[in-house]
Amino acid sequence: MNEILYQATKEHWATGHFNASELDQMRAIVEACAELRSPAIIGTSEGEGAHLGHAEAVALRDVFRKEYGIPIFLNADHHKSVESAKRDIDAGYDSVHIDLSALPFEENITGTREVVKYAGKNQKSTISIEGELGYLRGESKIQREKIELSPEDYTDPRQAKEFVEKTGVDRLAIAVGNIHGISLDEPALDIERIRAIRSLLPGDVALVLHAGSGVPDDQIKAAIAAGIANIHINTDLRAAYTDALKKSLAGNTGEVAMYKLDASAIEAMKKIVKEKLILFGSVNKI
Ligand code: G3H
Ligand code: ZN
Repeated sequence: MNEILYQATKEHWATGHFNASELDQMRAIVEACAELRSPAIIGTSEGEGAHLGHAEAVALRDVFRKEYGIPIFLNADHHKSVESAKRDIDAGYDSVHIDLSALPFEENITGTREVVKYAGKNQKSTISIEGELGYLRGESKIQREKIELSPEDYTDPRQAKEFVEKTGVDRLAIAVGNIHGISLDEPALDIERIRAIRSLLPGDVALVLHAGSGVPDDQIKAAIAAGIANIHINTDLRAAYTDALKKSLAGNTGEVAMYKLDASAIEAMKKIVKEKLILFGSVNKI
């Protein structure tokens, strides 16, 4: 995963990171990636992982690898404690996003470094570790209220450099003006800040843009040009899935077979994944 991210950074394209909480969603992501010859990164947040099951997610990844023959990586997304990060490393995840960004700077460093060390001790030393610095507001939903950002939310480039040096992370998630979920207002990414952070970090540390849903395409492209190598998408998938499912339920009131009722929802999700992969330039990379 680190090698692919390094390649993406050098060549100015980005891998997509797509969240899933069900087998069918995982398959939709993998199928979309396989059809476009893109690496697949599937994330489970703490809630999504608890719903799907950690061992189940790992087993499904293994089955999909065999079935589709493409690089598939499983990321433990936004893990808020060292313990849950360690648990998913032990479960066989390829990657962990340890998100201690709500803690004071020094505590964030201490906890993140502990996860980096733990991943290195584990026999799977290729596990990729992502840390987070800055305050990314919101959750993966359609926001009903305006969320105000404060200047302190944004990642400070010098602190980012220090954070990376002291923790040894492979990837850094940064806060640059967007929020999780689809916001009421159009976000305005601070592209110059991305460029400044990128210029201060070693080339093999990838920059991650979370909260990619609802960000206009031109801003996504500018963020990639400035050095973003991985973009997280969740709400756009959730919205596409639930909109299609609601329509299916309303239009097929006599149907009770779940796999028939949610087929259009899975297709809607797959369509979004493909659109994002094309936007990110992640096509024909494998
Ligand atoms: O880690 C997950 C993502 O940052 C998803 O954010 O729901 O705004 O796409 P999003
Ligand atoms: Zn996120």
